[in-house]
Amino acid sequence: MEQVIFAGFTHEPAEQLAERLGKIVPAGLDRVFYSDNGSTAVEVALKIAVQYWYNQGRRKKNRIIALEHAYHGDTIGAMSVSADSPFTATFEALRLAVLRVHDSKELERLLRDRKDEIAAMIVEPLVQAAGGMLVYSAAELERFSALVPSP
Ligand SMILES: Cc1ncc(COP(=O)(O)O)c(C=O)c1O
Repeated sequence: MEQVIFAGFTHEPAEQLAERLGKIVPAGLDRVFYSDNGSTAVEVALKIAVQYWYNQGRRKKNRIIALEHAYHGDTIGAMSVSADSPFTATFEALRLAVLRVHDSKELERLLRDRKDEIAAMIVEPLVQAAGGMLVYSAAELERFSALVPSP
């Protein structure tokens, strides 16, 4: 059986979807990386962030900031950036060290002290569903984005 790996190749529906996504994502995001589920997409995003800084020669910028109460999936990296819970407790030894904040005030303080270590911040925009349908404001999301802008 022949195998086709979707890397370095393309096809029409993939390009059409990328085009449509480009119209709804925030300005400046002009690359699409297809993944196969939410957890794997989170793994890829974490890796892209760390690799970005690595490629700039900023190898100490490898920490991720996550929000308290977050849920990002069940693979090791995604579970690491998710909140501590009975579901993650068994795997504590495997989880990556993550910096956690409650809000933009804490984020601001953290960046003041540790900006040189930080690669990225991951958030569920506006609603932390699995964390208990916790809603925060669009203004707060904008503050996160302003404090940790896309490179
Ligand atoms: C915000 C968020 N990120 C990631 C995931 C993980 O997605 P998946 O179950 O497709 O791995 C979920 C799943 O509910 C989610 O709610």
